[in-house]
Amino acid sequence: MTKAKSVYVCTQCGADSPKWIGKCPACGAWNTYVEEFIAKSPTQSQSPLHGYEVSKSKPLPLSEIQTGDEIRLDMSDGELNRVLGGGLVPGSLVLIGGEPGIGKSTLVLQTALNLKNCKTLYVSGEESAKQLKLRAERLGEARADCLIVCETSLEQIFVHIKNVQPDIVIIDSIQTIFTELTESSPGSISQVRECSAAILKFAKETGTPVLLIGHINKEGSIAGPKVLEHIVDTVLQFEGDQHYMYRILRNIKNRFGSTAELGIYEMRQNGLREVSNPSELLLTQNHEGLSGVAIASAIEGVRPFLIETQALVSTAAYGTPQRSATGFDIRRMNMLLAVLEKRAGFKLIQKDVFLNIAGGLKVNDPAIDLPVISAVLSSSLDVTIEREVCMCGEIGLSGEIRPINRIEQRILEAEKLGFQRIILPKNNLKGFDGRKLNIRIVEVRRVEEAFRELFG
Ligand code: TYD
Ligand code: MG
Repeated sequence: MTKAKSVYVCTQCGADSPKWIGKCPACGAWNTYVEEFIAKSPTQSQSPLHGYEVSKSKPLPLSEIQTGDEIRLDMSDGELNRVLGGGLVPGSLVLIGGEPGIGKSTLVLQTALNLKNCKTLYVSGEESAKQLKLRAERLGEARADCLIVCETSLEQIFVHIKNVQPDIVIIDSIQTIFTELTESSPGSISQVRECSAAILKFAKETGTPVLLIGHINKEGSIAGPKVLEHIVDTVLQFEGDQHYMYRILRNIKNRFGSTAELGIYEMRQNGLREVSNPSELLLTQNHEGLSGVAIASAIEGVRPFLIETQALVSTAAYGTPQRSATGFDIRRMNMLLAVLEKRAGFKLIQKDVFLNIAGGLKVNDPAIDLPVISAVLSSSLDVTIEREVCMCGEIGLSGEIRPINRIEQRILEAEKLGFQRIILPKNNLKGFDGRKLNIRIVEVRRVEEAFRELFG
């Protein structure tokens, strides 16, 4: 038996070194080297793709490169099409990342089952064919041109692909696949790097799109080397809270479209359902008379929706008051509470504050500051905010309300859902004439003005 050689590989950039080093000379990251074993050097042995090496490349001027009409593949799923920028581009490599149990396998299997006139090869390295069958039965009818294979060897996968000639390949997951070219275990940096590079070559040379599923490490980024994200054309992140039913499909990188698009799903007994109008789900229908609820007009990516922010303020029982926020940055909340103390005489030291964004969603839009601070004050004063008012605005340290983006979209969405009043930052409208709309626009410059408008 040959003795396996060990090298140290940087988890950030994939550079290697014969010895462990603290700082990577290639990318400058600290403490990123891990040991890996390799027996054969990849350049000496034959590529697993030898059957596909068809074209000899030749440099050409851009004007002579033929694009054809790039026909994007319709994924039979409005949300997925939207996130991909209008469908799947032939020959593209798409990575879908997400926490365990969030629904990545469900999403791709459901897509594979719904695709029309398209031969799909679903390679599973995680579940048995029986498990997949049980899952597929919950999701919909089994179609003849969706083929399932449980395989983890990259070489074998390419044999299957050659035999089947699929229109789309799905690999669940890249961390379970291994190639004989390197001897390290599946999921290690060199395995993930070698396998994804071979898959990329296959996709580009044959024009077959490939969907890859990727695990997420405990820091929340896609496990494996950072180069994986550089290699692929598109990176999608599937996120949400496991205890809630909403899931968001976010585009982190897209070589063929904008990253501003966002897909929203609801996890049901029989799979994922597209949510085309998120506002209707995220608003509790009946909270008349309850204090501590403010409706925010938020935007994620380019989609406007209205969402409930809920706060509970109670007298602190112990010396140190409790602060807790779900779906909102706790440091930002502490900053807003300090503004509240300065501007509205809210005594921070004596209050416990709990904050919650409805539906288990994490909202990154700064415009949610004003609704958050209003919900806290509403609960603290025990005064209800009227049902038909919604608001948006970023709050600065001195209590000023700062302009936010896409104000027209927010106003139109609020009007569409039947709100009668929207509170927004002064000088944000820039020529937008809202007088013809069925919603009253209230512009405010400072938090005090907003509070006067809400609580009289
Ligand atoms: P799964 O796709 O296995 O997650 P991942 O591949 O990201 O690890 O999804 C697992 C969860 O989804 C599981 O906890 C049950 C739930 N689920 C439903 O609620 N409805 C369904 O129809 C299916 C198939 C799964
Ligand atoms: Mg899975």
